[in-house]
Amino acid sequence: MCGIVGYIGNREIKSLLLEGLKELEYRGYDSAGIAIMQKDDIRYFKAVGKLKNLAEKTKDFKTEGFGVGIGHTRWATHGKPTELNAHPHLGEFSYVVHNGIIENYQELKKELIESGVNFVSQTDTEVIVHLFEKNLKNSKDPMEAFEKTIETLKGAYAILLITKSAPDTIFFARKGSPLIIGTNDKGEIFFASSDAPLISNATEVIYLEDGEYGYANKEGIKLFANKEEKEPVKVPLTTDKQYAQKGGFRFFMEKEIYEQSEVVGDTILGRASNGKIYFEELKEEIIEGINEIKICACGTSYHAGLTSAYLFERMAKIRCSVEIASEFRYKEPLLTKDTLFVVISQSGETADTLEALRMAKKAGLKTLAICNVDNSSIVRLADYTILTRAGIEKGVASTKAFATQVMVLWMLVLYFSQIRKTLSDETIANELKAIRRIPKVVKVKDKLHEKIKRLSKRYLHGHGFFYIGRDIFFPLALEGALKLKEISYLHAEGYPAGEMKHGPIALADSELFTIALMPKTVHYDKIKSNVEELSARDATILAISPVEFELADDFIKTEYFDHPMIEFFEMMVITQLLAMEIAIRLGNDVDMPRNLAKSVTVE
Ligand code: M6R
Repeated sequence: MCGIVGYIGNREIKSLLLEGLKELEYRGYDSAGIAIMQKDDIRYFKAVGKLKNLAEKTKDFKTEGFGVGIGHTRWATHGKPTELNAHPHLGEFSYVVHNGIIENYQELKKELIESGVNFVSQTDTEVIVHLFEKNLKNSKDPMEAFEKTIETLKGAYAILLITKSAPDTIFFARKGSPLIIGTNDKGEIFFASSDAPLISNATEVIYLEDGEYGYANKEGIKLFANKEEKEPVKVPLTTDKQYAQKGGFRFFMEKEIYEQSEVVGDTILGRASNGKIYFEELKEEIIEGINEIKICACGTSYHAGLTSAYLFERMAKIRCSVEIASEFRYKEPLLTKDTLFVVISQSGETADTLEALRMAKKAGLKTLAICNVDNSSIVRLADYTILTRAGIEKGVASTKAFATQVMVLWMLVLYFSQIRKTLSDETIANELKAIRRIPKVVKVKDKLHEKIKRLSKRYLHGHGFFYIGRDIFFPLALEGALKLKEISYLHAEGYPAGEMKHGPIALADSELFTIALMPKTVHYDKIKSNVEELSARDATILAISPVEFELADDFIKTEYFDHPMIEFFEMMVITQLLAMEIAIRLGNDVDMPRNLAKSVTVE
């Protein structure tokens, strides 16, 4: 997702900003820009594509002496990746960079246009700078105008703003999107949306909390929350870049599991409000004349698709089938134009999924891509795209991408249900309530992680794992088993719980480990009796449930049990942590498991 850097000091500012943005490259972006102010002169540069394009544009520009600068890498959410939409966004005499989403930007934009403001971009961010300048007309004190501006904003943001009305100052604010201020003993001040650009520049950092804002200049940093001044808390900054990129976690996979709360929040932003689901990137006509949805994907993305098929049929009352892309390609599928063809892919480059999409396009079907990488081959080919906003996923074992895929699909089900009027307003409102709780549900709790770490030592051998579940918990069982086998190299299968007695139960003995997904909200009694059958044959049972289960050899108690998807997401995190802790104990490279690649661009 987007990245932010900022600087106050005497160094050559352009190079410093570009180097900082380079450190944030791993997060993914499709355009970049910087703005530098010295005295009351502001220069700004923007470029679409990689940072080398921005470097090329700025090659003849250099600063000398004191100045302030802000920079940004943008991953498009509102509006296409164009220069006009790239940050910094400008008003008449001020510039802003922003991460996150301003949820009420449409109403603010309307008011500003009515008061005569001219907008040049399609972004939500541009409202910030115009609002600031409008407030400044009535106040004359830039800090007061900035405070008033952020009070008006709804949504999530990390903001840096510079203005000719305070030429040596950077105004900053954080709510929901990370922002860090770095300092050193030379009096320089740095800003960044994550640690990496600050390492080897700053020695101490202030991790801003939600709701904090303020300004920084030659004199130092002034920090506020709720209009009260606060003493900034500085902590020493690590000097190890790898460590910083991993955010202090042992593996990228672990970091990505912990990031799920934030990225799921990003996925929802601007898409679920006022009792409705909105997808800016779709038009309602996408579902016109459609009687069936066909989903095609591979691996984890396939599991996300399988999960959604239950929801499409149950809620949106539309037929939905899900196919593995490598199978679909060669089965000579019958494709009819009343089918919406949906592909799901983290990378957007998976060869089989891409080919399936080509076949659907050739057959004249409407196509929709659910993807994590903008401008990828799949995104470029599909008629419509919904980006999952997971940020770059480095661990080969997909975690946060899966979480965001399922979230997008769940919202898509509701979007179609709205259009097809298959759910009451009340039911949609309840679903939205559940959706908004997911960032909290997927937040990893220390106690839970510790427990899984301890339990994992009992699951390092055996002749196999069966992950079992019913309904939407069957695809989750498949996904849990895939996670385990990918990184632990232990044999694991996902199975529909009710199907065990049709064959696999023959394997049951004390060395067969059963991971039983036993949600309270979905067929609890049915799955309970399936697990009892396994226990009667001496299988070792690890039960995951909000309801105590006395036959379990090990038990992980879940917290929530008032909505199937809430239970789903909570159990998802548990299965991810379990796979990771087992693999770590076995001494495996969790991020780069043997024989696997992150992006499978060959058949
Ligand atoms: O990039 P895609 O989502 O298209 O990739 C599909 C699979 O290769 C991918 O999900 C794979 O199964 C992961 N390693 C699972 O963790």
